[in-house]
Amino acid sequence: MNHQSKLPDVGTTIFTVMSALANEYSAINLSQGFPNYPSSQKLNDLVTNAMNNGYNQYAPMAGNLDLRLVIAHKYELLYKSTYHPEKEITVTAGATQAIYTIISAFVRPNDEVIIFKPAYDCYQPAIELNGGKTISIQLSAPNYNVNWDEVASKVSSKTKMIIINTPHNPSGTIWSKDDMLQLQKLTKDTDIIVLSDEVYEHIVFDEAQHQSTCLFNDLKQRSFITASFGKTFHNTGWKIGYCCAPDYLMYEFRKVHQFNVFSVNHPAQKGIADYMQDESTYLGLNTFFERKRDLFLSLISESRFKFQPSKGTYFQVLDYSEITDEYDVDFAKRLTKEFKIASIPLSVFNENSKDDKVLRFCFAKTDDTLIQAANVLKHI
Ligand SMILES: Cc1ncc(COP(=O)(O)O)c(C=O)c1O
Repeated sequence: MNHQSKLPDVGTTIFTVMSALANEYSAINLSQGFPNYPSSQKLNDLVTNAMNNGYNQYAPMAGNLDLRLVIAHKYELLYKSTYHPEKEITVTAGATQAIYTIISAFVRPNDEVIIFKPAYDCYQPAIELNGGKTISIQLSAPNYNVNWDEVASKVSSKTKMIIINTPHNPSGTIWSKDDMLQLQKLTKDTDIIVLSDEVYEHIVFDEAQHQSTCLFNDLKQRSFITASFGKTFHNTGWKIGYCCAPDYLMYEFRKVHQFNVFSVNHPAQKGIADYMQDESTYLGLNTFFERKRDLFLSLISESRFKFQPSKGTYFQVLDYSEITDEYDVDFAKRLTKEFKIASIPLSVFNENSKDDKVLRFCFAKTDDTLIQAANVLKHI
């Protein structure tokens, strides 16, 4: 049989490639975005308790109610924004499933979806599997600023959705209040849906404020927010996340959600709900990662890599243009093989593999690993 691929341009992701190379060469792996230290014992115990207390059958389709209540509380606390736990919050199998389901629920063949590059890699395949057309706006190192006139020029009657991501993976930049106001102005009086990927909302540095779409009334009315407990609670392997949106949008979301996953891991949801009763479990994350960022950057300050400190996420991009003019994918592979340190080349997230000579390093690692990594980077 000869089937034509629905995703002819998609191969193995760079994360799999770099992690496999890191294993093969026993390199320090700062490529894929996951912590190399344990998830909290208290949280693990709460999930175990949930299993022992009978939370072992299907969770409600929209998610465990205790968890939806505590999520709603978080939005009141941090943003003074109300999401109804019954109708406006749904627990998902990680942010990835939320993103896929949102796109599937709304994007029809030939609809246009605007994304900003470098872009997290799950957006474009989901758009294209649903017959949509990706309209890319390329941002550039080192500031990745958005030119809002350019965005306005790409909006048309075919624009169904705009996908944004702040704090931003892979660049470690954040959008300002002004960016959000520009987006609000641009979408006002349109039917455009905004998908706001806020998985790093609790990882913002230097006392900056995370600019959630829910802080802007008109934007909130057209937006889905996606979130990931894997990022917040250091257990990316659990794949639990959620999304929130006004009820008229969530109603459509759930029509698809109930058939592509129905409901997600129940004991993990209940354990997370109990854990989040203590707000410090998520409010302390900024300081936790800011210290790791500062440690890593202070140790490589004398190196030949140039950088602007990450403003959010647990990623730091480093510019290597003073070291070599090699293509970033080649340099990342050579660093892994020869110097035993793995990173992610940014060109893979860009339009036409644009190469700004920058690599992304994940600092969600133990201090020991960061010290070892810095020792290598200092001598390149
Ligand atoms: C920007 C962004 N969105 C979504 C995800 C996916 O989150 P999850 O692991 O909860 O599916 C990630 C994970 O790396 C991410 O960086």
